[in-house]
Amino acid sequence: MNVSLNSNPVINNTSDCLVVPLSSGTLTGALADIDKASKGHINALLKSNDLSNRSGRCTSLFHVPGIKAKRVIVIGTGKNKSLNINQLGALYRHALKEAEKTGAKEVSFYLHEFDAGFRTKKHFHIATQALLNASYQFEKQKSKKAKASNIHKLFFCLTAGGAKAKKEAQAGINSAKALVKGMNVCKDLANFSGNVCTPEYLAEEAKKMAGAKVNVKVIDEKSFARMGMGAFLSVAKGSAQSAKLITISYQGGKKDEKPHVLIGKGVTFDSGGISLKPGAAMDEMKFDMCGAASVMGTMTAIIAAKLPLNVIGIIAATENMPSSTASKPGDIVTSMAGLTIEVLNTDAEGRLVLCDALTYAEQFKPASVIDIATLTGACVVALGSHASALYSNNDKLAEKIQAAGLASWDRVWPMPLWPEYNEQLKSRFADLANIGGPKAGSITAACFLSNFTKKYHWAHLDIAGTAWNGPGPSKGATGRPVPLLVEYLSSLAK
Ligand code: BES
Ligand code: MN
Ligand code: ZN
Repeated sequence: MNVSLNSNPVINNTSDCLVVPLSSGTLTGALADIDKASKGHINALLKSNDLSNRSGRCTSLFHVPGIKAKRVIVIGTGKNKSLNINQLGALYRHALKEAEKTGAKEVSFYLHEFDAGFRTKKHFHIATQALLNASYQFEKQKSKKAKASNIHKLFFCLTAGGAKAKKEAQAGINSAKALVKGMNVCKDLANFSGNVCTPEYLAEEAKKMAGAKVNVKVIDEKSFARMGMGAFLSVAKGSAQSAKLITISYQGGKKDEKPHVLIGKGVTFDSGGISLKPGAAMDEMKFDMCGAASVMGTMTAIIAAKLPLNVIGIIAATENMPSSTASKPGDIVTSMAGLTIEVLNTDAEGRLVLCDALTYAEQFKPASVIDIATLTGACVVALGSHASALYSNNDKLAEKIQAAGLASWDRVWPMPLWPEYNEQLKSRFADLANIGGPKAGSITAACFLSNFTKKYHWAHLDIAGTAWNGPGPSKGATGRPVPLLVEYLSSLAK
């Protein structure tokens, strides 16, 4: 689907479908122009109650006299002009869905016209993001592909506001295109089955990102013991697939500028290991690499957007499998930081993998570190699928991430890292246990990680509830938290 900008007035527009807003009973803007050209056709429809201004309600009109376009979709925007990002995106999605019911190939949007305040970069960013996301499909592992949509061109028609408005609109379209490119990378990697998307596959995909200003380094499991990454290794050694520690360095900023580091949990399949998970919905544990996928997606987006910032993406990729070489409950391992860990439950593997990646990140002297992980089922219980859990050892960092979450509608909610919770991780035999008991599971997992992040400003995102949609026809990766991370990094680059 191609999205672009033009300044075609509604009367002469030759694309085969127009989308125009209706916010109240009195006609304004594009719809008023159509009414005039059609000698009162629209007003007549209004009088007979055939048009609704209810938010998202679409009415398709065909062969309206006096205009060139074959179809007009009138979409209600509601009377309330203070739509949030999600509601605004939904309007565009509804209109596109309605257009898809027709034979339209090209759709022209006049939706921004219902409020002069909408001729902003933000508006066109949200609209483009919503429209492009709506056309995402994952059929890479199907032999028969569904029939593609007829619609292949989308236009925003900007007839007012002059050169300034055009510039803003184009900037919004461009930033959304870069973002969606990254979200699609994230979704594709996450949606691929676990036998295809292995640690090796992630490493190969990462290597393809290398280029101008982008370096990619892959460390194989063979080197983990020598590097002292005993915690990561204890998970990796149970699988026949070789684990990988992948580093993607993007130098968009000045050479001496400290990098911002993103670390993704890349468990390409989490069976639980010897502490085997129950069978129901275990297939969804192919999504246990969504943190890694979001790092790859975010790196893709910021590289496409040429963000003037130094960013390092680190991916800790492994399977978690039961086998004769797998860790057993009660095993004690030594992390790269030197802390010993009693592995009381091999299904709490994410924190074992991440703690060594967090220590590995110290060498980059980071300005900030954010780890992203589908870390706990308890997080899904706490926050459901609307917000990712946010933990941080630095209030300013947490505030910036929260603000980015609101601005991108990829929201987070802050959770405590109080020392009292750390008490739950005491071990009889080692420095730390890898589980903290049944209470506050998302928090104790974050507390575990906080023992390895003392040397820098750090935040942890538990995305277990937000990274994918569960069972049913909409099962699949959401692309979150790529919008949040891209917004956060963009806010730093400003
Ligand atoms: N990857 C899972 C967390 C998860 C489970 C995310 C279900 C989304 C849906 C993680 O590795 C895990 O298994 N965590 C355990 C921790 C427990 C053993 C302390 C959990 O949440 O049950
Ligand atoms: Mn697990
Ligand atoms: Zn896991």
